[in-house]
Amino acid sequence: MTDFIAGLPKCELHLHIEGTLEPELKFDLAARNGIALPYSSVEEIRAAYEFDSLTTFLKVYYEGMQVLRTEPDFYDLAMAYLRKAASQNVRYAEIFFDPQAHTSRGVPFDIVIRGLRRALLDAETQLGVRAQLIMCFLRDFQAEYAMATLLESLPYKEWIVGVGLDSDERGNPPAKFAAVYERARQEGYLLTMHCDVDQDNSVEHIRQAVQDIGVNRVDHGVNVLEDPGLVEEILEKGLGLTCCPISNGYVTESMKIEGIRKLLDLGVRVTINSDDPAYFNGYVQENLEALNFSEEDLVRLQRNAFEITWLPRHLKDGYLAELD
Ligand code: HPA
Ligand code: ZN
Repeated sequence: MTDFIAGLPKCELHLHIEGTLEPELKFDLAARNGIALPYSSVEEIRAAYEFDSLTTFLKVYYEGMQVLRTEPDFYDLAMAYLRKAASQNVRYAEIFFDPQAHTSRGVPFDIVIRGLRRALLDAETQLGVRAQLIMCFLRDFQAEYAMATLLESLPYKEWIVGVGLDSDERGNPPAKFAAVYERARQEGYLLTMHCDVDQDNSVEHIRQAVQDIGVNRVDHGVNVLEDPGLVEEILEKGLGLTCCPISNGYVTESMKIEGIRKLLDLGVRVTINSDDPAYFNGYVQENLEALNFSEEDLVRLQRNAFEITWLPRHLKDGYLAELD
């Protein structure tokens, strides 16, 4: 099964670029930027990756990205991920970035996006991996800061395919960002947002995302199974869900594979993704292996993924033809 998965043309639609920062690169960037890390080895860093909830994970995630300071840092981060993606036969990726996690500590927006963009262009020509950027707002900051970030992104609109919403979900419902999402839609961005697994009010958050905000897809969203009417609505709208089994296993008590299975059987466009692979020890290959699904189901998952990409129809069809 490992070889079968390795051979499949794959797609990654839920991947935080800051969550791909491997300990080795963390050390290199700290040295380059003259930053002292409170760890003396890669093993020590890995040992500090102890989390059992979204909140405990996010603390380590934000702390880790402090080493990212310059345009080349963001280039190197994205290039390292794209090389890894190419090695796993990932043909296309939609990559989240968290500008506010950098602007809030003094790193300018244009430094972040220029570094990432340059890596995407190089990856396409040098590695044959295509990718697009999705800008995420941090939901535990005020909506006004998200709006300011949205406005700051407009000169770079051509480099960003859509917007997302991530970080700490408790007490930060989709409704908080209704005006930001409305403006993003007017500006031509496609819309997604995290409805993380097993948060307080998960189902209500999915409902708001789908019905009130009108998202084009939902990140995670497995809890929709608790509301059959909402499942039906997601089916009718053909909305995709970007699920992340290994990540689920870290931030909740289970990988939620049963739920993913059920959604796939119902015909919902579920997809399998890695979320924050440097922290959760698994890229897309390992996430697909964790499922123990049949070859037929693995192909269905990849068909779903290419189908819900934010690519023009002719490019989707090109990738889908490779799965025939
Ligand atoms: N959930 C919410 N916010 C995040 C995540 C996640 O899995 N990863 C990075 N930011
Ligand atoms: Zn995520």
